[in-house]
Amino acid sequence: MSADSGLPDKLVDRFGRHVTYVRMSVTDRCDFRCVYCMSEDMTFLPRAQVLTLEEMATLGRAFTELGVRKLRITGGEPLVRKNVIWLFRQLGRLPGLQELTLTTNGSQLERLARPLREAGVRRINISLDSLHPQRFRRITRVGDLDKVLRGIEAARTAGFQRIKLNTVAMRNRNDDEILDLVQFVLDRDMDISFIEEMPLGVIDDHDRSEVYMSSDEVADLIRTRHPLVATTEQTGGPSRYYRIPGTGSRIGFISPHSHNFCESCNRVRVTTEGRLLLCLGQEHSMNLKQVLRNHPGDMERLKQAIVSAMDIKPRGHDFNLEAKPVIFRHMSVTGG
Ligand code: GTP
Ligand code: 5AD
Ligand code: SF4
Repeated sequence: MSADSGLPDKLVDRFGRHVTYVRMSVTDRCDFRCVYCMSEDMTFLPRAQVLTLEEMATLGRAFTELGVRKLRITGGEPLVRKNVIWLFRQLGRLPGLQELTLTTNGSQLERLARPLREAGVRRINISLDSLHPQRFRRITRVGDLDKVLRGIEAARTAGFQRIKLNTVAMRNRNDDEILDLVQFVLDRDMDISFIEEMPLGVIDDHDRSEVYMSSDEVADLIRTRHPLVATTEQTGGPSRYYRIPGTGSRIGFISPHSHNFCESCNRVRVTTEGRLLLCLGQEHSMNLKQVLRNHPGDMERLKQAIVSAMDIKPRGHDFNLEAKPVIFRHMSVTGG
């Protein structure tokens, strides 16, 4: 409890979980249309409904004053938001923040890797599902693989401490590239996480249960070429990590279906519209935009709203790939 305000200096939910990690989505827009994330025809939010960068910086301050140690900027594609580097610079100076990071599709990194590094970002995650240009185009619908590969190179040159690739593993779509993607990170001293697809939003490309690949299947495939040694390493995110002896790379698995990690959840999200979302797989939320806009400058009130939201953080998600989706929000609204 802090002496002056009566507000706690950390965020703890009803299940005793300590929230230290906030994922902030800075735009629902994206220059890609990944088939597992979006439908081909998407409507994006009108600008007035989206938080301003100043409002996001205020939120970052409120969260860190409440004990949050890690902020991840997500989207949509965060780097298509105009002036987003300004926000990184503001957040990068927050006292108490241990890590400022982002998840990106890589398309803008050629231009922005260096300014991000200079703003204090030390680690980034880049989505990459295929190393074949045509297949990459098929999965992202519009993406240019070459541009993303140049973005990855720019990130390496800019000197980030760690770069991690995120790959959504999909049967008959990219499962034949899992070993190549592992080799790609081994050759560049990067990390990679393989993700099980989640039923967020209605998509028109495929039946999610048909392409589903469990992390265990992906791990077995990797073991045909490399030994995988389990580690207890943590990045504060949901990945379970393995090492390939003799290399510097970590191989992670994000397994919301096969190895549920909700029990140790340490995170919440803020959507582009300023909705504090207490779980990726549920709708429990608190409208922070209303507090920001009705009471500008009232930091205590904002923090109070965040603290009270902890009481509605649900125990976990109820993802079921066989059933109709119950969460209609696409991943691009929350950035994962
Ligand atoms: P690190 O800091 O590197 O550990 O990153 P991270 O894994 O926390 O973040 P990233 O943005 O790279 O997310 C990778 C995947 O994990 C995305 O598909 C996210 O949707 C998923 N993910 C992150 N947090 C959660 C969560 O609380 N629940 C579920 N189901 N998935 C999550
Ligand atoms: N299921 C799993 N991962 C997804 N991503 C986007 N949509 C989904 C989904 N439905 C991934 C992206 C990115 C990360 C933020 O989430 O590929 O790497
Ligand atoms: Fe864009 Fe990321 Fe969604 Fe792909 S997964 S469409 S890159 S927000």
